[in-house]
Amino acid sequence: MSDTIQKNLNYKKYVIDSRLQYFKPHSTKIEKTFAEDISSSLDGTPKFINPKYFYDKKGSELFEKICTLPEYYPTRTEISILKNLQDELPDFLDHNFRLVELGSGSSTKTRLLLDIFTNFQKKIEYFPIDISEILTESSELLLQDYDNLHITGIIDTYEGGLEFLKTYDDKKNLIIFLGSSFGNFTPKDGYQFLQKINSTMKPGDLFLIGLDLVKDKDLLESAYDDSQGITAEFNLNVLSRINDELDADFDLNKFAHRAIYNDKDQRIEMYLQSLVNQSVIISKSNLTLNLQKNELIHTEYSHKYRISQIHDFLTKTGFKIKHTWLDDNNHFSLTLVSKN
Ligand code: AVI
Repeated sequence: MSDTIQKNLNYKKYVIDSRLQYFKPHSTKIEKTFAEDISSSLDGTPKFINPKYFYDKKGSELFEKICTLPEYYPTRTEISILKNLQDELPDFLDHNFRLVELGSGSSTKTRLLLDIFTNFQKKIEYFPIDISEILTESSELLLQDYDNLHITGIIDTYEGGLEFLKTYDDKKNLIIFLGSSFGNFTPKDGYQFLQKINSTMKPGDLFLIGLDLVKDKDLLESAYDDSQGITAEFNLNVLSRINDELDADFDLNKFAHRAIYNDKDQRIEMYLQSLVNQSVIISKSNLTLNLQKNELIHTEYSHKYRISQIHDFLTKTGFKIKHTWLDDNNHFSLTLVSKN
């Protein structure tokens, strides 16, 4: 039996209709549970909460709201660049490409790319890769609007999904990773992630990455501490999630949202600051958390880059730079690379 068939046996295929199917692995890598993760990351100093826990239902809704805030420039700026790509991206593509998205994506951005494909392909293939089954909802909406669209969702980690794709067929992939989500990785994890993407790409595949750029500190800090307090709500919501899911007794009024730009490390650092000396019980993590007044719980990094740094780390992880597009204010970037 060939490797390809063997590999695909690890996934179960769900055919919904002639234009929609999903693949889901029979088993995924066993990850630490939420309770275990919280127990180890809050039981020591410095204390932190992995930002992946922001995105429960409420957190995902709050993030959608953040994307529309006047202070949060990344989303609308990236969209403005994508609109300008309508003329230029097709130069790098042909009829043999499919669109592969890491994350099920914001539908506005996905649609802008599908519009580009529509201009030169009769049948468009879109493969969203997302660990959450949320991709099933967004897929159905897209199919209503694009008659020539065929969707294959891969419900898996990004790495697992790309490995799956590598042996799936010979079609070329345009892999997109938008929104500067890469900036939420630590530099070490980010580097490993790029190496992994590179190793799962076939010759001829392309990768388009959206990254936020270094800019004025006030602009950055207000993007992460908006006047309506939505980012604060988003940050504090992770404590509500711990209360609900891990049987804890965080009092949200005893914490404040902090977003500080660290010039040296070129990143926004988000924290939850304890406003008093307090003890919090997190039953399902078997933890009593003692916090001093003003003590910080780190919740997120959001790295910002210079173009030269982007080119440098992409080159060092095995990519060849094809093109970088910017907006008029040089606030955000989209870089297209191939495998070197
Ligand atoms: C998802 N990620 C790219 C956002 C960012 O800008 O780092 C998350 C976010 N955190 C606060 N506001 C938005």
